[in-house]
Amino acid sequence: MNIILLGYMGCGKSSIGRDLASKLKMECLDLDDYIEAQEKKSINQIFEEKGEIYFRKKENEYLKEVLETYSNTIISLGGGTPCFAGNLELIKDNKDAKSVYLKTSLQELVDRLFVEKDKRPLISHLNLEEDLKDFIRKHLFERSFYYNQAEYVISTDDKTVKEVVAE
Ligand code: S3P
Repeated sequence: MNIILLGYMGCGKSSIGRDLASKLKMECLDLDDYIEAQEKKSINQIFEEKGEIYFRKKENEYLKEVLETYSNTIISLGGGTPCFAGNLELIKDNKDAKSVYLKTSLQELVDRLFVEKDKRPLISHLNLEEDLKDFIRKHLFERSFYYNQAEYVISTDDKTVKEVVAE
């Protein structure tokens, strides 16, 4: 059995995934890290040199590969993964995986992402907090449709990583 963590950028998928894996004695895999290792480039470089369409195509291929080859693993997706190219179906139709949406409020995402936006090509150009907030509001509205189809939804607001992992 695998556990798939999904949710918006900055919701804590990677850090929660690491802690949950050690608590449940499972392996842990971050899809962005996997893509970077396979492509031998950072996510920023892939977006810059090859563009988003190329990234989404690779994200879809590597998601399939990971779901087929890994077991007993916590898999943290990228924020956009469930929203592109049939990935949601891959996640939902996978009988060997449970999916969990880590749900974070708009303001908490803005607060977290404003200080770590540089490694995220979709938002790194937004220098004003208000612009970042507007972007996330719209993006989250579009993406919530996909995120909400996860089997479980856990709110991360005002919780430590430990508390989310326990829940
Ligand atoms: C993206 C989120 C990123 C990464 C890429 C695109 C998105 O992952 O996959 O920059 O579309 O939301 P994180 O959610 O881990 O930041």
